[in-house]
Amino acid sequence: MLKISKRERSMPVGVIGKLLKIAAEEPKVISLSAGEPDFITPSPILNKIPNLIKNRKKNRITKYTNVQGLLELREAITKKLKQDNKINTNPDEIYVGTGSEAAIFGAFLSTLDPKSEVILPVPGYMSYEPAIRLLNAKPNYIKLKEKDNFQINPDEIKKKITKKNKVIILNTPSNPTGTVISKKILEEIADIAVDNDSYIFSDEAYEKIIYDGNKHISIGSFNGMKKRVLTFQTFSKAYAMCGFRVGYVQGPKKIIKAITDSMTYVNIAGPTLSQHLAIEALKMRKWHVNRMIKKYDKRRKYIVKRLNEMGLRTQMPQGAFYAFSNIQDYSKDSSKFANKLLKKAKVAVVPGTEFGKAGEGYIRFSYATNKSSIKKAMNRIEKIL
Ligand SMILES: Cc1ncc(COP(=O)(O)O)c(C=O)c1O
Repeated sequence: MLKISKRERSMPVGVIGKLLKIAAEEPKVISLSAGEPDFITPSPILNKIPNLIKNRKKNRITKYTNVQGLLELREAITKKLKQDNKINTNPDEIYVGTGSEAAIFGAFLSTLDPKSEVILPVPGYMSYEPAIRLLNAKPNYIKLKEKDNFQINPDEIKKKITKKNKVIILNTPSNPTGTVISKKILEEIADIAVDNDSYIFSDEAYEKIIYDGNKHISIGSFNGMKKRVLTFQTFSKAYAMCGFRVGYVQGPKKIIKAITDSMTYVNIAGPTLSQHLAIEALKMRKWHVNRMIKKYDKRRKYIVKRLNEMGLRTQMPQGAFYAFSNIQDYSKDSSKFANKLLKKAKVAVVPGTEFGKAGEGYIRFSYATNKSSIKKAMNRIEKIL
């Protein structure tokens, strides 16, 4: 009998694929589940496509790029990291992947051995844990608590970290909680990483989507941290370029080389046209990104107010485009609750358990959807509750 590998069969079956399918196929369903901007990629980026096609001989958009990513793009990223994130780097320290997802997987591949441990804050972005498990390494959970605004507590890391630890994962601003990690906490975590000789993977996918004067700080900019911090960023969220699949990781040259070598066998290189468009995104005036952030901000305030009014306790997120709501006054089971919202209110949301067991009792609403749909969805939910 032909069988799927044991390792693959042991992977958790997420409900998110099912939810996305229903949301896409059922026209009456309002989806507040997707983690992608509803905005179209800004026109200064899209409008470059005809020109890129016209000049295809010169720019070679129909060919593979350098496996590590176009040099011109890596140079532009180097400047961006210096200006926006205070990270001094060079193009040899950057790998451009098909989305930051590919860069994250490549980084796990390049750092984890079987039985290596990874400090994993939960609830957290859903794709870290499967990647860690696929490599036969072990997540070491740090539970983030609502009473602490889902802020990570460095003392908890100190208590749990072992000699087998290889990586500490940080995600700021966080998906799904929207929490931004403060400078003081980042400094404490940097010290722990040094004492324990661990890498830090800093996933900064939402670095630009931040509100109320909160500041995004890259731990990779701290003194003495360059050799152990890998910084992941993406064009998907701030530039609404999910479909173009461009993201990157900056880190020590040795690891970037290892990531480049292993990812060659996964996707050879990232998409060439998209990499040219990413260069345009970095040249574009900031106004285009700020316009989207202002809209997210208005929706954020609206959705959080409505959710709290209907008894779904929700903190004001500091960044990203998600509201993470406590449903415990209504249900103890977030999957059942999400199903009920889908069936009875025709609203798709993501159960908190998709972000780890610690997400039980919560659901995630994405407000990367137009305000009138959000309003309609809130009215429907309020009615059934
Ligand atoms: C926290 C976080 N990191 C990484 C990614 C991957 O994004 P991409 O592969 O589009 O860069 C996502 C996507 O939702 C995310 O939420």
